[in-house]
Amino acid sequence: MISVVKANQQHIEGIARVCTDGHWATYGHSKPKAYIERVVEAFYNYDRIRQEVTETSKHWGGYFVALDDGEVVGAGGGGMTGDTTGELFVLYLDPDRRNEGIGTKILDAVTIQQKEFGAIEQWVSVEKDNDMGITFYEARGFSYQYERESYGNEGEEDYISLRYYRLI
Ligand SMILES: CC(C)(COP(=O)(O)OP(=O)(O)OC[C@H]1O[C@@H](n2cnc3c(N)ncnc32)[C@H](O)[C@@H]1OP(=O)(O)O)[C@@H](O)C(=O)NCCC(=O)NCCS
Repeated sequence: MISVVKANQQHIEGIARVCTDGHWATYGHSKPKAYIERVVEAFYNYDRIRQEVTETSKHWGGYFVALDDGEVVGAGGGGMTGDTTGELFVLYLDPDRRNEGIGTKILDAVTIQQKEFGAIEQWVSVEKDNDMGITFYEARGFSYQYERESYGNEGEEDYISLRYYRLI
């Protein structure tokens, strides 16, 4: 049985693991290894995730984790970018646990939180070559709006993010 809960300090290592493994599984074939290593080190290190589970606000609502028998098998989170606008900032699964509905459950939890914060719309960025991500968001009612250079890549390789949107 999968349950989705707001993450706490007990889940830090599990979040780091699923985000790191998920990132490699998603981009390992399409991006340079050194680039992925830099991203993983910057975003999915223990200290950063500890801060992200302890210091939450409207703008970063914290991680939600999917637990299977206590083990973290997925993690995601988002925040408000405007009074009525929410955004999903991150969503990763254990690569062996895709297509079981776990991603949908985590997205639902983030969405409920954002509706409580007053969101009536929700955005997400997905990289242009991430077919699985694109199929998933389209299946969840998001529609493509526009493209832009990936956030945080200034001066590095040019990656294109697709901006998707839905009413919630
Ligand atoms: C994208 C991701 C979070 C989706 O989570 P998931 O648990 O696999 O997705 P779910 O099982 O909840 O839903 C799958 C839906 O996506 C679609 N889908 C996506 N890829 C599919 C595939 N290879 N085969 C079948 N359906 C697929 C289906 O339409 C399905 O919709 P349905 O429930 O209406 O049939 C997950 O695959 C993942 O972690 N991918 C790698 C990381 C990533 O891309 N993250 C998002 C980047 S922003």
